[in-house]
Amino acid sequence: MARRRIIAGNWKMNMTPSEAVKLVAELKDLVVNDNVDVVYCVPAIDIVPVVEAVKGTNVNVGAENFYIEDKGAFTGEISAPMLVDAGVKYVIMGHSERRDIFGEDDILINAKVKKAFAAGLTPILCCGESLALRKAGTYKEWIERQITWDLSGVTADQVKNLVIAYEPIWAIGTGETATADQAEEVCAFIRELIAKLYDGATAEAVRIQYGGSMNASNAAELLSKPNIDGGLIGGASLKPDFGKIVNA
Ligand code: G3P
Repeated sequence: MARRRIIAGNWKMNMTPSEAVKLVAELKDLVVNDNVDVVYCVPAIDIVPVVEAVKGTNVNVGAENFYIEDKGAFTGEISAPMLVDAGVKYVIMGHSERRDIFGEDDILINAKVKKAFAAGLTPILCCGESLALRKAGTYKEWIERQITWDLSGVTADQVKNLVIAYEPIWAIGTGETATADQAEEVCAFIRELIAKLYDGATAEAVRIQYGGSMNASNAAELLSKPNIDGGLIGGASLKPDFGKIVNA
């Protein structure tokens, strides 16, 4: 089946609200493509101005995180219902920076994935191995463990609408992009795992992105692979070149 391509920028902790509005304007005409879902996942403080700035365009807005509770005495946090009310459609879950810097484990990530679906958000669920596991050759076992835990209790219908992002940690922010064959091997493995955990139709429907130093020069080869349905882009999403990835 043909899966609709999805190219998402993960702005991480970049772009003040005024810089964000300028970037949206700069990218506006560069990211037009009727066959691609284009998403900007932005810092919480940028959500309202960016939702306003993309109105009437082909771009949807995503968040980068939320707290597991819906409301209450959790100073500094934001909730999934707040994101939905602000016009957010997607949310990155389980990014390696949330796992490694902020200590999010697969139990919390699983709870957040279920909360995201319950709130009406589409999760972009990240997985990926360290350089040590890549070198040891045990990266598939690691990713199987992540996905199996992170999708516990998630229904087949929900997974059909899920986006999974394979992001080898050793490729994030390093310029050391996985080769198209390395990325395809793992994305195909993830699809086979979904078929095992659910069924063939669910595996065919779920969209799987690659992330990790994807840029204008390597996007076309990566996106030409049968099991790579898009990209989750960090550094290259903050520049006009992001339009070249959308149109690769
Ligand atoms: O979530 C995407 C991000 O981790 C990839 O970052 O800068 O390597 O494209 P970058």
